[in-house]
Amino acid sequence: MDARVKRTGGLIWPEEGVNSAVPYGVFTEQAVYDEEQARIFRGPTWNFIGLAAEVPNPGDYKATFVGDTPIVMTRDEKGDIHAWVNRCAHRGALVCRELRGNNAAGTYTCVYHQWSFDARGDLVGVPFRRGLGGKGGYPADFDTKQHGLRKLRVENYHGAVFATFDDAMPGFQDYLGADGAVDQHLRRVLEGRDIEVIGHARQYIPSNWKFYAENTKDPYHASLLHLFHMTFGLYRSSQVGGVKITGGWHTVLFSRSGTDSEEAISETKDSQLRTYQADSYTLADPSLLKGRKGEWGDDVTLVIMSLMPNLVIQQIQNTLAVRQIVPKGRDAFELVWTYFGYKTDDEELRNIRLKQINLIGPAGLISMEDGESSVICQQAVVRDQNDWSCIEMGGRDVKDADHLVTETTIRAFWDEYRQLMGY
Ligand code: FES
Ligand SMILES: [Fe+2]
Repeated sequence: MDARVKRTGGLIWPEEGVNSAVPYGVFTEQAVYDEEQARIFRGPTWNFIGLAAEVPNPGDYKATFVGDTPIVMTRDEKGDIHAWVNRCAHRGALVCRELRGNNAAGTYTCVYHQWSFDARGDLVGVPFRRGLGGKGGYPADFDTKQHGLRKLRVENYHGAVFATFDDAMPGFQDYLGADGAVDQHLRRVLEGRDIEVIGHARQYIPSNWKFYAENTKDPYHASLLHLFHMTFGLYRSSQVGGVKITGGWHTVLFSRSGTDSEEAISETKDSQLRTYQADSYTLADPSLLKGRKGEWGDDVTLVIMSLMPNLVIQQIQNTLAVRQIVPKGRDAFELVWTYFGYKTDDEELRNIRLKQINLIGPAGLISMEDGESSVICQQAVVRDQNDWSCIEMGGRDVKDADHLVTETTIRAFWDEYRQLMGY
């Protein structure tokens, strides 16, 4: 073991290059997982809870999670969006047991003893409050105002809804980061758009959520792991692209297909032999990749935004999707995909989006390997808490890059993670 190590919270980190060598215990220790729930998901972060378009009408609701805490996003009769912890103020039962729906009555009634709450989470009804025939009932000073559901602060950012447990948090845009690089890419696909949800998929992955967080910030793996990417030219390390980091740990990876020079392609071929099979495969249905060029007024064909702690938002060709990370314990998480388009889509464009959904999601031609890579990491690290990963591609520091052969974005994640966790 290297002499320059420090022990923090039971884990050993190297004294130098702490962001480029992460002890595997962060993926396996129950104490780490529990602390993440308090310091990250319920701490000073904004968590994605859904698209506003998932609750378009007054009375609509959607059950989801912040970290592993069940919450409900609602839209009240005035059109405002709220979020509250889905835990009855009486004795702790789930109040809302449906995934989504419309609650025309406007009240959410716990099935156990039928306490009922409005869309804002305030207690509005208590059965047998005064007892029966003068017997029983709640004490005279029982105040319904003291027994509402626990509320979260909510911000609707161009149609993406974020919530925080932390009342002292600065606004979402501040959280995104001052220099605007991630913000700019986010607004590129959201701002001024009438978003329409066009599908959902859910995927349960037996891996710690942070292996997936690393994966989505990792431009290094994309052309090596994903055969389809490389073979059909959707993404190659030789393409023009780059990574940007704002707000500490929010990142964006972007690339432009068709921009690689012959020279770069041949260099790529040499170092990526396994995945470069363009000469031997063709698509039976080439319309899959036909797409519509320049939809956003530029030639960017792939953007993966990772907004910590729980959102990935993606544009690949003409597909758009948000992926919400929901931790389910130290060695499992659920990945919730919501595919969307715009209400202004013409029929041809909508069909392109629907067809290209085949690229992504749990069985997507270019994303099914991501779940599996997280799983094989989890399987291998279970007994080696104080061995370290090596995250040194592109250096050991954290900075933007105008190329795709780097892990600087992953180092950014660990830098912020350590600060929030007190390591
Ligand atoms: S636990 Fe909800 S009303 Fe009793
Ligand atoms: Fe990937």
